Amino acid sequence: EWPRRVVSGIQPTGSLHVGNYFGAIRRCVRLQQQGNDLTLFIADLHSLTAQQNPEVLQNNILELTAYLLASGIDPEQSTFFVQSAVTRHAELCWLLACLATNARLAHLPQYKEKSAKMKEVPIGLLLYPVLQAADVLIYRGTHVPVGADQIQHLQVASQLVKTFHHRYGKTFPTPRPLLPDDGSDRILSLRDPTKKMSKSDSDPKSRILLSDTDDVIHKKIRKAVTDFTPQVTYDPKERPGVSNLIKLHCLAEDKLPEEVVEESDGMTTAQYKGVVANALCEALRPVRERAVSLQAQPAFLQAVLQHGAVRARQRADEVYQDVTNKLGL
Ligand code: ADP
Ligand code: NA
Repeated sequence: EWPRRVVSGIQPTGSLHVGNYFGAIRRCVRLQQQGNDLTLFIADLHSLTAQQNPEVLQNNILELTAYLLASGIDPEQSTFFVQSAVTRHAELCWLLACLATNARLAHLPQYKEKSAKMKEVPIGLLLYPVLQAADVLIYRGTHVPVGADQIQHLQVASQLVKTFHHRYGKTFPTPRPLLPDDGSDRILSLRDPTKKMSKSDSDPKSRILLSDTDDVIHKKIRKAVTDFTPQVTYDPKERPGVSNLIKLHCLAEDKLPEEVVEESDGMTTAQYKGVVANALCEALRPVRERAVSLQAQPAFLQAVLQHGAVRARQRADEVYQDVTNKLGL
């Protein structure tokens, strides 16, 4: 009954890696290419749950803009902007926060994990999933591309929709997760294939950055931790290191694990690493080159974001009007 609308946000926290690319950026590009109505924002408000240096943040926003455009986000086809430029996100967040409970939010695993490491826990960290709900509901989003570890946050959104409907009548679609079927939501660290590749990992060799040159990509893949079996076989449980390389290869060349395993028959893992590195270089080089040239045009990037914000505001204003009417505001 609600028109299909895909909503996604990506935080401008810098040094994008291939996990971010295959797990988030390229998925959005493909959803756009499949003809979805895509609303994509740079989640600067979310990034403030950790302290940010203002100049670095501003740079990260433009860098991410450049990489998203370089990856194929089309600002005419999709609605692409910076979250804070559309104040309705934060405004709806407040209204939803008044329906959310502390107990429910404080129970979420990501909150528990992050807050456990802090002496003073900012309330923004607790409200994070409520802002995520607002991000989607303010556009009446029906589908959200997520990784498996984000499902619980989407359940918070569903719960808020239910509570809102119960009190004020049907207003929002219940947003559904879109999970990838290619394992792209879980790219592992190259140095410790028991954990996800992450920008916060202290070992820079654990991840391939989108800004890495071909040379650096080859070096990092060569140093990737595998195991003592020389053959190339796909077995994510028993051989997570080699399987992670196979997954990266598949994502880079749009292939299935069976195909690349067959092609690499007779190769040692050491030889196979060269194949994986080449595949990644070919896939990432054009994106990197376009992004570098776009980053040299900050005024253009700002204009693209402004254009998207105008369109997003129109859509958000409409929904917000309806919401405040229902609340008696
Ligand atoms: P990081 O974990 O490196 O700090 P973020 O949490 O900022 O990255 O994630 C940005 C986006 O990239 C999210 O959509 C997230 O699901 C995705 N992402 C992050 N790390 C990975 C990974 N290792 N594999 C697949 N997707 C990832
Ligand atoms: Na993360």
